[in-house]
Amino acid sequence: MIVIIKPDPDAVTRYAYDFVRAKLTAKPNLVLGLPTGSTPQRLYKALAEGCRKGEVDFSRVHTFNLDEYIGLAPDHPQSYFHFMRVNLFDHVNLPPTNIHFLSGLPDDVETHCEDYERQIRDLGGIDLQILGIGRDGHIGFNEPTSSLCSRTRDKTLTRDTIEDNRRFFENEDEVPRWALTMGVGTILAARDLLVLATGRAKAEAIAAMVEGPLTAMCTASALQMHPRARVVCDEAAAAKLDHDEYYRWMQENDFRMRGVLEAGRSRKPKK
Ligand code: F6R
Repeated sequence: MIVIIKPDPDAVTRYAYDFVRAKLTAKPNLVLGLPTGSTPQRLYKALAEGCRKGEVDFSRVHTFNLDEYIGLAPDHPQSYFHFMRVNLFDHVNLPPTNIHFLSGLPDDVETHCEDYERQIRDLGGIDLQILGIGRDGHIGFNEPTSSLCSRTRDKTLTRDTIEDNRRFFENEDEVPRWALTMGVGTILAARDLLVLATGRAKAEAIAAMVEGPLTAMCTASALQMHPRARVVCDEAAAAKLDHDEYYRWMQENDFRMRGVLEAGRSRKPKK
């Protein structure tokens, strides 16, 4: 896993923006997996701004969101679909037909989830999956003890997640207890993964994901199995990493290595 430590949330956003922009430039019909939550909000704002300035183009992009609450209609103010409209979809040139979303009110949960997986497959798979991480190490709504091979399905949320979400609802009874979510296996099938994390509250989860054992008790730890997983976090979220010196050293040396390769190539062979 590549760990990038940035000084603050703005620097995390700049890195993530440049990363997504480079992917969009390399593949204009990118299939992009997206999270909701407070973490990606700055990135979505930057992408909306970038689209206005003509730096990024979503006209051929397809998006798949990670999850949606069961029981909420798309126009419910706390639905993830509504969140995505307000934060990104309404501000970029993404054709509405290219937006793929799990329904909070499916006719049949199993068929709906299978269909979502099929839609991903039909578009050639997800090129870049952006992720946030829960305090308990969940990705999507894959709560602790989720199968690390799971595919899109319904999940019961933990009390901690319900408590974290409580602030968005009038009272606790309204907070959804179930969600549909891409599985850990669905996420691992994406070609590139970009995890964003900011703030001290994420420090334990980031340490468990990067340096802890591979375990269903922290579903993000499954990303250790992915060949192209990258986490970008601020200093606060990196606070509990034991090997942070190594990650910083790696970052610095990544650039120097390019110089070494260039110097090697331009060196004249000895006669
Ligand atoms: C939401 C999702 C969740 C969040 C996680 C962190 O679509 O996938 O896994 O990324 O709960 O949420 P925030 O960013 O609000 O701390």
